[in-house]
Amino acid sequence: MNITIFGTGYVGLVTGACLADVGHHVMCVDVDKAKIENLKNGIIPIFEPGLEPIVQANFEAGRLKFTTDAKEGVEFGQLQFIAVGTPPDEDGSADLKYVLMVARSIGEHMNDYKVIIDKSTVPVGTGDRVKKAVQEVLQSRNSDLRFDVVSNPEFLKEGDAVGDFMKPDRIVIGADSDEPIELIREAYEPFNRSHDRIISMDIRSAELTKYAANAMLATKISFMNEVANLAERLGADIENVRRGIGSDPRIGYHFIYPGCGYGGSCFPKDVQALVMTADSVGYDSELLKAVESVNYRQKSKLFEKVSKYFDGDLKGKTFAVWGLSFKPNTDDMREASSRVLMELLWEAGAKVKAYDPEAMKETQRIYADQDSLDLCGTKEQCLRGADALLICTEWKEFRSPDFEVMKNSLTRPAVFDGRNLYDPERMARKGFDYYAMGRGLSVQKFI
Ligand code: UDX
Repeated sequence: MNITIFGTGYVGLVTGACLADVGHHVMCVDVDKAKIENLKNGIIPIFEPGLEPIVQANFEAGRLKFTTDAKEGVEFGQLQFIAVGTPPDEDGSADLKYVLMVARSIGEHMNDYKVIIDKSTVPVGTGDRVKKAVQEVLQSRNSDLRFDVVSNPEFLKEGDAVGDFMKPDRIVIGADSDEPIELIREAYEPFNRSHDRIISMDIRSAELTKYAANAMLATKISFMNEVANLAERLGADIENVRRGIGSDPRIGYHFIYPGCGYGGSCFPKDVQALVMTADSVGYDSELLKAVESVNYRQKSKLFEKVSKYFDGDLKGKTFAVWGLSFKPNTDDMREASSRVLMELLWEAGAKVKAYDPEAMKETQRIYADQDSLDLCGTKEQCLRGADALLICTEWKEFRSPDFEVMKNSLTRPAVFDGRNLYDPERMARKGFDYYAMGRGLSVQKFI
């Protein structure tokens, strides 16, 4: 099939590359000239395991094309995916400017029947707005060309996006007639062979499904973080509690890891947008607001612990920070807890030495003007001369470090672990002052 994707961001690029990889002909459209030029030269804008080789292979095979020409893109595909950004605007609602711009451009250039697919995470009701935008442009052209609008939300996890696309848990399709569903079914056929993963429904339900999924996952994390905070005060160990509750299949082991808060481009943005959507229909979503505020607070927990440990005097001290991306296997720094931590440390007059396996460039870009940040080439170098180690992201290489080197490099053997990587007893035996999240009596004196 011929397929067009608007937006070569995270979602658009993964969708385009994976669809081309199973034999479709895909044209990716973006307004960013430099990005499109880079893509044509095999340079992809993000770090995502497994993505680069399939972009390169399919580009070379001629199945994956890149253009900045919207007209060329609209004429190319029968399926038109909209995968442009929906950044939060000032009040946290998703900004639909780019989505509607693409919709109008499809209306302007379309020459035969098109299926317009909302792939970006968009508020409930966007399908109708896209339909209206296209209709208006067609009317102004005196055209009676047919089109359908479909909601097909993505459920890709950064760091695992190619796998998630190739082996989806579910393919949600929201439409108000059968014709577009059949066409999308055909496009997804190669990913849907072993058993049918397509769940079709009306457009509004599909749009809400995406928000509900992310909000549920964010709720699980904020819930666990709240119990972790309680565990600290009660002298219990959240890691035991986690195993205890996860064993109940109704709760499950997934996504109940406590930590220094969730980040990324989805959870914070989507929970906020859903709160705003609820407000707009006169519903005060108490639970979702709490999920958000618990997370907000959680991101400063490591700082609070460090601050207590040093009796509130952080001025002139240097802290080693391991892990800057919002989670492992990505270089994405959006809403990362490390940012809140570092900014609080700087505010308190401290210096930061930081290391991340992939997000150094991104950190450099964001904090180009920050004098109190020293970006280190290795995790060991990062420790040298620091007053304490703070861990924000659970990259694999942090799991079994050389603890002797760690202890000898730090001026005080203090480790503040936002991801519960180590065993508190073992750390105590090795002579560390070790503070994790929600791990019992060891932290009680600091709460
Ligand atoms: C998420 C959803 O998982 C995905 O389905 C959706 O399409 C987009 O949003 P992503 O943002 O890539 O994907 O990250 P995810 O792996 O879900 O992690 C989000 C955040 O939650 C990370 O900061 C992670 O550290 C945190 N997290 C996750 C926890 O703190 N505890 C957990 O148990 C799980």
